[in-house]
Amino acid sequence: MNLTLLQDDPQKQQTPPVFVALDTSSVQEAQHIVARLGDLGTHYKIGLQAYMAFGHSFVEKLLLQDKTVFLDLKFMDIPNTVRHAVKEGVSMGVSMLTVHALGGLPMLCAAVDEASKASFRKVETKILAVTYLTSLSQETLPLSVQHQESFLDQVLELASIANDANAHGVVCSAEELAAIKIKYPKLKALVPGIRPQGMQKQDQARTATPLEAKQRGADYLVVGRPITEAPNPQQVLQSILDELRDRV
Ligand code: C5P
Repeated sequence: MNLTLLQDDPQKQQTPPVFVALDTSSVQEAQHIVARLGDLGTHYKIGLQAYMAFGHSFVEKLLLQDKTVFLDLKFMDIPNTVRHAVKEGVSMGVSMLTVHALGGLPMLCAAVDEASKASFRKVETKILAVTYLTSLSQETLPLSVQHQESFLDQVLELASIANDANAHGVVCSAEELAAIKIKYPKLKALVPGIRPQGMQKQDQARTATPLEAKQRGADYLVVGRPITEAPNPQQVLQSILDELRDRV
């Protein structure tokens, strides 16, 4: 099993790994994408849709193929429930799990504490705290919080909870990335809402190209539909990786 799963060198900006989001209800479709990407596809994100449809055994299959798996189920519940859910994720051997920062400090601390227990884990599972979803914008926040603080201040407040809980990092959009990195330099940033130049935003609101996200300090990227819905997924992934590798 691949144990050198995630880059962690603080000295230099490396090429951020690209997690391909397998958002589908069809296990055949997911298998087809993984097969088409071949050795180029090393990192996969399994989210709610795929997990509900065919999850656990598929995650195991990916791990057996030495793929790095990010299980993005965005836990938000009482600390005890989240702790036990994290324990299950850790025992599966996934590299990253998400929790909502909105779940609060005790919940995040429970998740981080459980993930740090070494006794039963196969890999070091990292906890990432979701700030605001990349599909949200100031206008789509609930009215009660819309005008309290700027969107960025609210995201920074959520990042501060992740920082206080010693989470590995946050999930944020490329728009808040630079501010988070300045204020909380030890937090890693995983950035979804990535759209290669010229591609549709679809339901994403706060998007960036792969290169923009890298230049703003992204440590990991998530790309779904631009790859999975492309006529040639391998070509799109290859061009994203080239864009990330070729330029600082
Ligand atoms: O297809 P697309 O590239 O928009 O997929 C983005 C993926 O990232 C989806 O699986 C979505 O659930 C996830 N995500 C996101 N925004 C967040 C956290 C996760 O879009 N804040």
